[in-house]
Amino acid sequence: MGNEKRQDVSRFEAMVIQGSLEPTPLQSLDWEKIGFSMTVTPFMGGSIAGVDGLFETPVVVRSGVLRMPAQACALNYGQSLFEGMKARRGVDGKVRLFRARDNARRMASGAERFMLAVPPEELFLETVMDVVKANKEYIPPLGKGSLYIRPLLSGVGMTLAPVPSDTTLFVVYVQPVGAYFKGLACIGVKAEVAYQRAAARGTGWVKAAGNYAPCFQPAKKAKAAGFADTLFLDHGGEYVEEVGSANFAMVKGGKLYVADSPSILKGITRDSVMRIARESMGIDVVFEPLRLDRVLGLGEFASQGPADEAFCTGTAAVISPIGSMTLGETNYVFGGGEVGPVTTRLYDALDGIQTGRLPDSYGWTTIVE
Ligand code: PLP
Ligand code: COI
Repeated sequence: MGNEKRQDVSRFEAMVIQGSLEPTPLQSLDWEKIGFSMTVTPFMGGSIAGVDGLFETPVVVRSGVLRMPAQACALNYGQSLFEGMKARRGVDGKVRLFRARDNARRMASGAERFMLAVPPEELFLETVMDVVKANKEYIPPLGKGSLYIRPLLSGVGMTLAPVPSDTTLFVVYVQPVGAYFKGLACIGVKAEVAYQRAAARGTGWVKAAGNYAPCFQPAKKAKAAGFADTLFLDHGGEYVEEVGSANFAMVKGGKLYVADSPSILKGITRDSVMRIARESMGIDVVFEPLRLDRVLGLGEFASQGPADEAFCTGTAAVISPIGSMTLGETNYVFGGGEVGPVTTRLYDALDGIQTGRLPDSYGWTTIVE
C-alpha cells in the first residue's frame, strides 16, 4: 500500500483484546426497528502510527476492547476525531460506499489541525473496505437501513503535559443502523440561544470528538421539551450554524439556502445536495451565512414569512425534513409542517444514487466487491 511499515504482529493487533466484544447475534436484529442503537459487529480494523507518523499495514481483527493507558492523550486532552460513512445495499444487490475519499480527506485535514498522524487516503479506504467486507452479513437489506462506518483517529500515547501524543490509533468499526431522526418525516427543532456549539475561530469545522459532548446537555433539554434536536446559532445569535450532528438548509421562493460558516462541519451530504440541486435540478443555491431572521421570516424578512421548507443533512441524518422551529416561546412552522417538494426530490435523488436506483453521474459511489 506504499506509505506504511510492515511487521509480523502489528501494534494494532497488540492493542486490541481480540474477541473480547461479543457480536450482537444477527438473528436478534429487527431491521424494522434498528434505529441508531448500539450493536456490535464481529470484526474491526485499523493501524497505529508511531512518532514518525507512518502507519503500519492495517489489519482486520475480531472485535474487542482496546488496551489504552489512562494517560492516553485522547482521554486526557481530547486529541481525537472521527468520521461517519455508510455502506448501502443497492437495487442490484451490490454494496456501495458514498464519497469515501471525501471522508478520508476530511479526516486528514482534522488530523493536521489536531497534530495526529494522517492516515494516507489509500490506507483509509482499504481499511474501510476490508471492515465492511468482513461484516457484510450485517449490512441491512435494501430500504431497511445501512451499515454505518465509524473511522476514529486518536492520540493514544501517554502525555501528562498537554502536548500531542507520539502514537496515533486509526480504527474502523461498523454497525447496522436505521433512521437517525424520523426518516422522511418532519421533525421539530429548538433554536438554541442559551448554548453555542463552536467558537468563531475554533475547531467546530473539525469532526472532533470534543465537539459532541458539549451538545449532550442542550440536546437532552431540547428532547425533554419534545424537540428532536437543537439548532445551534453563531456567537451573536444572528446566524444559523448547524444541528449537533447535521448541516442546515431551507427553501424559499424556489431557492435553496444552505448555511455556511467557518465554524461548522463541511458536510459531504450538504455538498452533494447542493450539487444535485444546482446541476441536476437547476435550482438556485445560495451558499453563505444564513440569517435566522430569513429562516423564520423576522426583521427585514417579515413580509416573506418563514421558510417554505427546511431540512438538515448528514450521513446519519441523510436529509431530515424540519417541519417547525421554536425560538423562545414562539413556534414557526415550515410548509404547513409537511415534507416539501424540493426536500422530497433531493432525498429521492440522493437515495437513488446511493442505492444504484439512479445513475451515479457524479462518480460518488464505490462498489464494495
Ligand atoms: N455537522 C455535524 C456536526 C456532523 O456531525 C455531521 C455528520 O457527519 C454533519 C454536519 C454532516 O456531515 P456529513 O454530511 O459529511 O455526514
Ligand atoms: C454522521 O452523520 O456520520 C455523524 O457523525 C453524526 C453523528 C451520529 C454524531
